[in-house]
Amino acid sequence: MLKLLKDAGLKGKRVILRADLDVPLQGGKVSDNYRLKALLPTIKHLLKNDAQFLIIGHAGRPGGKPDSQLSLRPVVDYLSKLLKKEVEFFSELPATGIRLPAIALLENLRFWRGEEENKPAFAKKLASFGDLYVNDAFAVSHRAHASIAGISSHIPSYAGLRLEDEIKELGSILERPARPLIFILGGAKTETKMPLVPGFAKVADKVLIGGLLMFDKQLEGTSNVIFPVDAADAYDIGPESIKMFTQIIKDAKTVVWNGPMGKWEDNRYELGTRAVAEELAVSPAKTLVGGGDTIAALSSFGLISDMKYVSLGGGAMLEFLAGRELPGLKALGYYG
Ligand code: 3PG
Repeated sequence: MLKLLKDAGLKGKRVILRADLDVPLQGGKVSDNYRLKALLPTIKHLLKNDAQFLIIGHAGRPGGKPDSQLSLRPVVDYLSKLLKKEVEFFSELPATGIRLPAIALLENLRFWRGEEENKPAFAKKLASFGDLYVNDAFAVSHRAHASIAGISSHIPSYAGLRLEDEIKELGSILERPARPLIFILGGAKTETKMPLVPGFAKVADKVLIGGLLMFDKQLEGTSNVIFPVDAADAYDIGPESIKMFTQIIKDAKTVVWNGPMGKWEDNRYELGTRAVAEELAVSPAKTLVGGGDTIAALSSFGLISDMKYVSLGGGAMLEFLAGRELPGLKALGYYG
């Protein structure tokens, strides 16, 4: 059974809080705060219960070495403002045994090779900063990394409030869904999504494909999988596909959307993603949308609050829906 933060004794405890800090950054500033705002209930719970905490997280894929473009310093500045409290920044791993300030945040975990390689020594070092561990990072819970899976073997571990909520919402969407049930899949991280498409095509009435997945030849001919019929310079789905996709959404009763249809950050190629977002915003269907890029697109179109549930997870959301065991949830006792 999932161990919940609500049931943890926190008073005077040092907590390691794994968070989804992989947020869009522009010119050294946080340009979309959705993931950080989603962390607030857990942070407030920790503050209310007099816990001290060290927030840990990653940004991008620096590959085990420092990269100034992917520093979490802008996140610290943003969180300090959001919380109206000082958040101390550690650009290096603090020395073991050091007394940490009330709220601190560690530099991008993926600057250390031990994180993605799930090195036991790195997980043990992270665990040494706390009395207990809280995972509120659903978006990375499909990765068997030190801060997600390894750390839990050292200190008592709990699911944060957002993570708990994600599991509840995602767990219910495919239980006897109203039909037609449609999946819309796009985005850039094809390696995580592609293997899941055939499984989704079996449970869904239709799977609409955009983003880089539309170039995946392996998926051609899969029953229920619908590819765009035209494209805009290979960076977006084309006008005929937009018409076809929006009609299918209009008729749907349950929709899962993960991944933009094209390179929406460039306004020449935003039409497909915007059309899907606008159609979902007015749809009476039960809708679940997710993924960092999808969230950023919806925020930029001003449509995020029109979505019924927004999951922080991209690959994690899809793997969960596909019934795969997520290492981060396993570490919290979810499958036990
Ligand atoms: C995400 O944004 O989905 C997470 O940060 C996971 O990132 P990853 O695919 O680089 O592990």
